[in-house]
Amino acid sequence: MSRTVTGIKPTGRPHLGNYLGMIRPALDLSRSGEMFCFIADYHALTVMQPAAELRRRVLDLAATLIALGLDAGQAVLYRQSDLPEVCELAWILGCVTAKGLLNRAHAYKAATAANAALGRDADEGVNAGLFSYPVLMAADILIHRAQGVPVGRDQRQHVEIARDLAESFNRVYGAVLVVPEPLVDQRVMTVPGIDGRKMSKSYGNEIGLSATPDEIRRRVSRIVTDSRPPAEPKEPDTILSLYRIVAADDDARDLERRYREGGVGYAGAKDLLTAAIERLLGPARQRHAELMADPAGLQEILARGAARARASAAPTLRAVREATGMGWG
Ligand code: TRP
Repeated sequence: MSRTVTGIKPTGRPHLGNYLGMIRPALDLSRSGEMFCFIADYHALTVMQPAAELRRRVLDLAATLIALGLDAGQAVLYRQSDLPEVCELAWILGCVTAKGLLNRAHAYKAATAANAALGRDADEGVNAGLFSYPVLMAADILIHRAQGVPVGRDQRQHVEIARDLAESFNRVYGAVLVVPEPLVDQRVMTVPGIDGRKMSKSYGNEIGLSATPDEIRRRVSRIVTDSRPPAEPKEPDTILSLYRIVAADDDARDLERRYREGGVGYAGAKDLLTAAIERLLGPARQRHAELMADPAGLQEILARGAARARASAAPTLRAVREATGMGWG
């Protein structure tokens, strides 16, 4: 897949599950092709926060991505609002979007269902930004004529909507937009949290990317196990599932075998898991701190990314404007 786009909202720091499920596969893709990776601050406005807080979170997320291995010289890393062209494209796409399609988008449906459950008006507390969120997201993708969008399973529907909108636009105005594909990494679609359910902030079962070795140990120690002694064989469990995802393949196979045959205690397995997570996150934690100490340097990186993003967006928007009758032909 040669050209991909992905966006991450700067609302809440990403955790280990976000990294393994979505960020790491995206970084892998960015090494083999052309990737546009942006910090979705326009999207973050649907849940408003103070301006200073939004700015701080944008920088923090940029530092996190770079610390985790994003090469901002190769991939195009930018802040969404530095590419205001997406708002123009979003308006135009909105005019080929059936309103009913947005009624069925899952974030909006979840909000109206929650209201219904409380006996409230369906749209209470729902702003129009939340409602038309999938249109802006489609613009993020289509503006770069991306072929692929690496996303977690939860974002798949949004990419399907982007496909629908590209097709609707092209039907009306001619083949201008590239129809993108969702790329869902099959290997690590679901990263378990410390309670065994999908790792998610809303379950409070996550391990933070900035967790210190001690915090990692404490979180891992809370994984519930049965009481089998070390010598006894064990069923695959949350410790093993997480270890498979974070450890090197050989190490994972080794622990799998010791689970199957007996010969490892849960305490020992938790030590292995803690060490593997620390090996994964330790260097990034250090690098993140260095980057955050130089906000001007981060802003400079984002400004360079924005210039490249605008250069990519310009021809798409020009073609869209021509096709819709805004240019002079
Ligand atoms: N909606 C995505 C999320 O909540 C973020 C996002 C916005 C995005 N625009 C995008 C992802 C474009 C991929 C492509 O995580």
